[in-house]
Amino acid sequence: MSSKLWGGRFTKSAEEWVDEFGASISFDQELVLEDIQGSLAHVTMLKQTGILPEEDVNKIIAGLKGLQAKAENGELTFKVEMEDIHLNLESMLINEIGPVGGKLHTGRSRNDQVATDLHLYLRNQTNDVVKLIKNLQEAILEQAKVNVETLIPGYTHLQRAQPISFAHHLMAYFWMLERDKQRFTESLKRINISPLGAGALAGTTFPIDRHLSAELLGFDGIYENSLDAVSDRDFALEFLSNSATMMMHLSRFSEEIILWSSQEFQFIELDDAFSTGSSIMPQKKNPDMAELIRGKTGRVYGNLTGLLTVLKGLPLAYNKDMQEDKEGVFDTVKTVVGSLKIFAGMISTMKVRTDVMEKATKNDFSNATELADYLASKGMPFREAHEVVGKLVLFCVQQGCYLADLSLEQFKEASQLFEEDIYVALNPYEAVKRRNSAGGTGFAQVKLAIEKGEKLLQA
Ligand code: ARG
Repeated sequence: MSSKLWGGRFTKSAEEWVDEFGASISFDQELVLEDIQGSLAHVTMLKQTGILPEEDVNKIIAGLKGLQAKAENGELTFKVEMEDIHLNLESMLINEIGPVGGKLHTGRSRNDQVATDLHLYLRNQTNDVVKLIKNLQEAILEQAKVNVETLIPGYTHLQRAQPISFAHHLMAYFWMLERDKQRFTESLKRINISPLGAGALAGTTFPIDRHLSAELLGFDGIYENSLDAVSDRDFALEFLSNSATMMMHLSRFSEEIILWSSQEFQFIELDDAFSTGSSIMPQKKNPDMAELIRGKTGRVYGNLTGLLTVLKGLPLAYNKDMQEDKEGVFDTVKTVVGSLKIFAGMISTMKVRTDVMEKATKNDFSNATELADYLASKGMPFREAHEVVGKLVLFCVQQGCYLADLSLEQFKEASQLFEEDIYVALNPYEAVKRRNSAGGTGFAQVKLAIEKGEKLLQA
């Protein structure tokens, strides 16, 4: 017998370097526990349907459990000649329990096997990612809770626009992450479907019970079509796409963290534990972790594009190209998990420079909208009010002062509608407080949003 489990039809063996090119064991060993889990369910089904005698199945189960224990302790050594995780485990099983181990693959193909493994893997990882998103949301909530009345300039075009509550800014990311969490959770519907029993592509002549093996694996149902079952990688694409969107959010947040911690802004100071120094410039404290997360977003996009491209030209059903689905998925899991953990730590330990932020909201023109709103609320058409205030801003710029520095006479010269209370309206604290429309930055709204967020996390 050939050393290859599929060697019967071959008269000569491939050279080592060819084997190496075709092998996936260097990376698909990540699926070792899922593969054993899938085999245990498959063989249990083979027993219950009477396809294999109980005696044989018991031996196979004992053998698989032995391998499972070794895998958990990292005691298995895989061989490139055995190509992938499936053939490595099967040959190990046969070594352990003898030829009866060869009965495990009855009514099954590596094509439905590998798809099953990937479904199980992504179910586990998706659940973990959801938990990690929650942790990050908690860290954001904690910072938001103590910064409801901390003022920060709000920006559009990276130009100061209107003052806002810092908590409101942070909470924007809370809601992005909430959508990310929803997307991952909803994708479980499509991940948690069993391809097992689809065989190589056409099903099998054995009287298997796909519903039983699916149930044993905790799947909610089975693929309706055997060809689709072994060819589908939509669920992996969906994981990559959800990850790409989430990384985009983390990358935008990173960008803000990087800006805020710069000498130019000085709005926050990152904890030493999440910063690094320079080998030449002793004064430097760099926001490396945020930069890395921003950078790693690129590889996650790459992994999504990579798999979309691998799949686009494939005829049904399985093609070896599909072996290329795994590395990008594993890399994405590692990147997403790492980024979420780092982010939560970075947010909960950062120091917020309330004084600098608030000073920034005073020394600028971000209260100009207040002035226009003030006139509009007294009956002047907003478009006209905008013009009046625009002229006042220009005047201040020319004089080198801010709006609050103008005297009431100067205001009245611009419009008789201005009264003494204009100075209250110009105060950034008042400006923020009064933006009490639903979802706005008014302190009462921000408190409501934080309460809502807390309830969501407790649910
Ligand atoms: N290592 C393969 C993969 O990851 C397993 C499936 C192989 N099937 C086959 N017919 N060659 O895709």
